[in-house]
Amino acid sequence: MAVLIYHLKIMASMMIVFLILLWTTDSVQPNTPQAAVQVFPPVNFTLTVSALAQVLLHWKPNPNQEQKNYTIRYDVKILSPVPEEYDTKKTHSIRTAALHNGFSAHIRTLLLHNDLLMTSDWVKEKLPPLPGAPETSVTNLSCVTRITISSTVSLHCTWLPGQGAPEDTKYFLFYRYETYTEECQDYIKDKWNRNTECRFSVTQIDPEEVDNLVVIHINGSSKYAAIKPFQQLFNQNAIEKVNVPRNVTVFLEQNDLLATWEKPISPFPKECFEYEFYLFNLKSGNKQILKISSNDFRLQIDVTSRYSIQIRANHHICCTRGFWSDWSEVIYVGQNKLENPVAWILAVLCVFTCCTFLLVAIICKINQVWSKLFPPIPTPSNKFRDPFPNDYEVK
Ligand SMILES: *[C@@H]1O[C@H](CO)[C@@H](O)[C@H](O)[C@H]1NC(C)=O
Ligand SMILES: *[C@@H]1O[C@H](CO)[C@@H](O)[C@H](O)[C@H]1NC(C)=O
Ligand SMILES: *[C@@H]1O[C@H](CO)[C@@H](O)[C@H](O)[C@H]1NC(C)=O
Ligand SMILES: *[C@@H]1O[C@H](CO)[C@@H](O)[C@H](O)[C@H]1NC(C)=O
Ligand SMILES: *[C@@H]1O[C@H](CO)[C@@H](O)[C@H](O)[C@H]1NC(C)=O
Repeated sequence: MAVLIYHLKIMASMMIVFLILLWTTDSVQPNTPQAAVQVFPPVNFTLTVSALAQVLLHWKPNPNQEQKNYTIRYDVKILSPVPEEYDTKKTHSIRTAALHNGFSAHIRTLLLHNDLLMTSDWVKEKLPPLPGAPETSVTNLSCVTRITISSTVSLHCTWLPGQGAPEDTKYFLFYRYETYTEECQDYIKDKWNRNTECRFSVTQIDPEEVDNLVVIHINGSSKYAAIKPFQQLFNQNAIEKVNVPRNVTVFLEQNDLLATWEKPISPFPKECFEYEFYLFNLKSGNKQILKISSNDFRLQIDVTSRYSIQIRANHHICCTRGFWSDWSEVIYVGQNKLENPVAWILAVLCVFTCCTFLLVAIICKINQVWSKLFPPIPTPSNKFRDPFPNDYEVK
């Protein structure tokens, strides 16, 4: 009986597998239309490095492809370094990507005919990794931009030499922003005299652009090894160290603390910013950080306490969040009196000492007056001679 059920089960699962196969092969077949139109892959697909971390993909329509009135498009599939798939009716496309580990892409023709979508085979192409010995590339690259008062953008990058980089390695940093490329002229070195930091006080980065890419390329040279270049893409807003909020003013109105401030130096309007308000109660030691999206703030506080206040800013609505600004300078509000118990005790002690001193002085004074009013009864002076002057001495 059990054996029969077992066989039935196997048969049932085989049926299901068969049905699934039938169904999937059916659904995979939409490319065979009634009028058999052949779809040919594009030809002469090439990849060209057109700038730092930029590759131009271009191809030609297959000359064998019937032109007629079909809609022809191309399906582009980037496999590495970052997978991406899109379609285009053009025969070229530009991509920005870190190319140090190579680049590879597939492409095929898409043909739309009578609501039917037909596809050709894929054609493949790739760029090899950039040459160099392993572990010689820089690591831990990080970059920060800042908007200056003159509305230009500065750039500062730091990195670590690769573990396999010889001691004589000299690294060179380039940045590219859109079509502009520049090499760093202001390096800071580590103790082996290798460049590990670079500053551009002015760049071509447009502070008004949103979420544009800053390309960093670091290559190097050494007598003992080929140094493998390294590339990284940064979103210009994500690496921006936001400026500090300006003109922070804080005052008390009855039991409320009122604060106002101006947005940091930035081309973005004030609606783009959010703030963190740090409130520290110096009496109780309580700390609070409040998130605020306007430029002013009212909060009920304990008026017997003294507070310290700081504010920092970030942008986020108009673009990607950056690095939080530094905290603004500390501002104190509230009563100062009972703030410090030591000062309190000292004050009490001081008053007490003064009072005591005063009291003693008064007592002395009174005594003096008293003695003037009622001069002490003079002890009778010995007008008479001691009848027995020698008695004492004898004793
Ligand atoms: C593809 O490239 C080959 C060789 O470079 C060239 O002879 C041919 O004309 C090109 N095909 C097209 C369609 O441009
Ligand atoms: C091209 O399109 C027109 C109308 O859109 C149609 O009448 C004609 O048959 C089409 N030609 C071919 C070759 O498909
Ligand atoms: C460098 O980056 C690695 C991995 O991201 C991290 O583990 C390491 O702590 C970083 N080194 C320094 C010195 O920051
Ligand atoms: C580093 O890269 C720049 C830009 O591609 C290139 O001009 C330069 O020759 C390279 N230097 C080395 C040492 O590879
Ligand atoms: C900050 O205050 C100063 C002086 O009160 C004023 O000149 C300046 O315009 C203010 N800045 C902003 C951004 O409002």
